[in-house]
Amino acid sequence: MALRVYILLIRTVWLIILENLAVGVMAGSTPNPWKEHVEKPTTYRLEAETVVTAGRLDSAVASSFPLFDTLSILPAFNAKTQGARSDVILRRIVTTTTIPETGEVVAVTGLLAVPASPNSTIPVVSWQHGTILSFDQVPSNMVKLFDPNYTLTDNADSLETLFNIHRFAANGFAVIAADYLGKGPLRDGRREAYVVKGATTQTCGALNTQWLHQALRSDGVPIEATAVASPFSDLDQAWRYWSGRVSFPLPDGLHRYPALAAWIAPCMLIALGSYELYYNLPELLEVSVRPQYRELARKYWNDYNISAIDSSDAPNSSNLLVESFWDGYTDDRISALQRQLMTNTAINWEYDSPIRFYYGLADEAIHPAMVMRTLSAGGKFTEGIQIARASHRVTFLAGLYGNEASLDGHDNVLSWFQSKLK
Ligand SMILES: *[C@@H]1O[C@H](CO)[C@@H](O)[C@H](O)[C@H]1NC(C)=O
Ligand SMILES: *[C@@H]1O[C@H](CO)[C@@H](O)[C@H](O)[C@H]1NC(C)=O
Ligand SMILES: *[C@@H]1O[C@H](CO)[C@@H](O)[C@H](O)[C@H]1NC(C)=O
Ligand SMILES: *[C@@H]1O[C@H](CO)[C@@H](O)[C@H](O)[C@H]1NC(C)=O
Repeated sequence: MALRVYILLIRTVWLIILENLAVGVMAGSTPNPWKEHVEKPTTYRLEAETVVTAGRLDSAVASSFPLFDTLSILPAFNAKTQGARSDVILRRIVTTTTIPETGEVVAVTGLLAVPASPNSTIPVVSWQHGTILSFDQVPSNMVKLFDPNYTLTDNADSLETLFNIHRFAANGFAVIAADYLGKGPLRDGRREAYVVKGATTQTCGALNTQWLHQALRSDGVPIEATAVASPFSDLDQAWRYWSGRVSFPLPDGLHRYPALAAWIAPCMLIALGSYELYYNLPELLEVSVRPQYRELARKYWNDYNISAIDSSDAPNSSNLLVESFWDGYTDDRISALQRQLMTNTAINWEYDSPIRFYYGLADEAIHPAMVMRTLSAGGKFTEGIQIARASHRVTFLAGLYGNEASLDGHDNVLSWFQSKLK
């Protein structure tokens, strides 16, 4: 039974950590790809469409909502006031991407979701789904809804994608979401590139929305507004926090702060495997983790099978790394990893359009002080919105569905993005 709870925790909460870095970037408008006479770039192909009715979206959200809002911090989902305003058309995008770190050209997939009867131009929301603890719970798998009998589940699908489609695509926006390298139907045995900056940004996902925002702005692409949830924007700081090497004072007014989640250690393993591969640091996994966890680490990176890990014997984020990891030089690969974590920070950027950071006051992976640093370095367009009592997962949901009461007097991302269109 204990094992089951552990699995559930990982399976449900882990999905969020990276997705949540990033609720979305809203980038200008795009010609409506569903109208006639629009030139279609040959660099990608759209597969057959799947129409999902507003009623079916509402009922899927109604059953998924409580899986995120486990402590009922938000008002229950109400289809009358928060329901889908239109049916939605889903299509899988197939394209290729060049991995900056390795130069490989790889076929990748993603999801395009648009309202069924859109206007001639549509605002675009690019939603960054981070990693997931499986090979196939990707955004484009939403096209499984082509089968009228298919029911979305937390264990087999990306419910975060459902929420984003429901909020944005059923309210007049086009939503694009990358499946990422090493995920989805074209995976073909490839390993993922978790928190590998170039590969992630290039696939149009990201440590997150912040990296994507910065890459788009560097290319001169205008961005109306950006929203981020539960960001660990500084990887070096996040790793030191997770491994117990830095701590922060309690946020004002709180008497306790949650312990670090069990799912952080598997996140760190996937990051080590990704850096080993994409930054060419052979056996980084073995040199970085304590001897008793080496076999487990390698096996987990190969199969992502969390049920194969005995929970009574599982590493946590503070006892995973070799004890000397932060204490002076031990190995070239560990030093290279640490430099890369610093290089891959997202906080050294001055934002020139509004960016909101939604963060929870009971987030089991991120401390509010980490978000404050992101705000203080990001410039005058940054804004932090705190969510009382919110875990990592509730923070994500509240950013999409919350109201002024749950969002410290602010509106949710949908309402905020809509206000930018006026
Ligand atoms: C859906 O389920 C119903 C009832 O079980 C069945 O009759 C129907 O053939 C199924 N439809 C598809 C597309 O599988
Ligand atoms: C189309 O544009 C109008 C005017 O801007 C807006 O009120 C309406 O919601 C839009 N419809 C959709 C489906 O986005
Ligand atoms: C994962 O591990 C469990 C426990 O060892 C095993 O029963 C199951 O078959 C494994 N799953 C896969 C997909 O290998
Ligand atoms: C990790 O596990 C050790 C026991 O091996 C325990 O002392 C420590 O408090 C745990 N740390 C976290 C962050 O869970």
